Amino acid sequence: MKRLHNFCAGPCTLPVTVLEQLADDIVDFKGSGMSLIEMSHRAQIYDEIHHGTVNSLRRLYGAPDDVDILLLQGGASLQFAMAPMNVLGESDKAGYVLSGTWGKKAYEDAQLCGTVYPAWTGAEEGYSRMPDPSEIIVEDDTRYLHVTSNETIGGIRMADFHDHGVRQVADMSSDYLSRPIPWDLFDVVYGGAQKNLGPAGLAVVFVRRSVLDNDLSHLPSYLRYDLHSEADSLANTPPVFAIWATGLMLDWMEEKGGVEGMQGRASRRSSMIYDAIESSDGFYRSPVRADDRSHMNIVFTLADAELEADFFAEADALGLANLKGHRSVGGARASVYNALPTESVRVLVDFMAAFASAKG
Ligand SMILES: Cc1ncc(COP(=O)(O)O)c(C=O)c1O
Repeated sequence: MKRLHNFCAGPCTLPVTVLEQLADDIVDFKGSGMSLIEMSHRAQIYDEIHHGTVNSLRRLYGAPDDVDILLLQGGASLQFAMAPMNVLGESDKAGYVLSGTWGKKAYEDAQLCGTVYPAWTGAEEGYSRMPDPSEIIVEDDTRYLHVTSNETIGGIRMADFHDHGVRQVADMSSDYLSRPIPWDLFDVVYGGAQKNLGPAGLAVVFVRRSVLDNDLSHLPSYLRYDLHSEADSLANTPPVFAIWATGLMLDWMEEKGGVEGMQGRASRRSSMIYDAIESSDGFYRSPVRADDRSHMNIVFTLADAELEADFFAEADALGLANLKGHRSVGGARASVYNALPTESVRVLVDFMAAFASAKG
């Protein structure tokens, strides 16, 4: 099979070795006589897969012992609501950094669940940059500050995490496990698995146990972190296939140097594309301030927008798939998640240079 160079913003490409392992085991899981996805989630065999994935997440991300790891459904989107529902007490409030589409969505859902306020907004600048730390205004008696470490659509990232005097809740969906986390700053870290970790269907949520003290008896049970935590994420039937595949992907990441290895890959590969943009004499442009450029989602435009259709058609013909920017912003976007082979980036930058010299 000829594999495409898949720059999709999510779901992501996965390593061939992981896909092959899944294929080998899908019908008869390790000689058990059934598939893992046919088995009870209470079976000993599944238990080992489940806890293996949790343990790998803890080891790779260096999550401290007082942080629980929940494997949930509903994507990152459900966490937009679950985080405020669980962490905000009746008289609490939270500040939100509105850094792009996703920070804004998190804020809008949180407004339905508690008292929240914008601690910074990039709306007037078209969400083209992250705030400088001093621009984030945290009001007195704030319970947490919500941040989006990487805005997948705008292609901007928080280059560093800063202390803002309150614990933070972070959506790290699109740079999950591709950079180390200063855990002391965070009470909740969440993300969908389908970009950097595995297939869709799984949200990975890190929750500091001390935030589970609130009385949550008014919440439906699935929405309570404490019940998932008590039951080790087996409060109901978990997304077993996604957890299994994610476990294999985490093994692959560990072989490649873990989070530090992923960080190096991301930095090198995004630089290759930013260099191709910068060295094109204005043929390609990045709309993002240099310090805030994402290492995961590289957005760019062609100075002559009329060439875009040809750009995508020729890219497609070379097997360079999913390079169109999000429908809300247009232009091009190359997502270089953990599993994307560096060779794919090489093919892309060679194509960008050839296209620019042919049409420029
Ligand atoms: C930063 C970010 N947050 C949240 C989401 C929503 O994730 P999900 O589809 O898992 O709900 C996305 C999806 O692209 C995202 O990029």
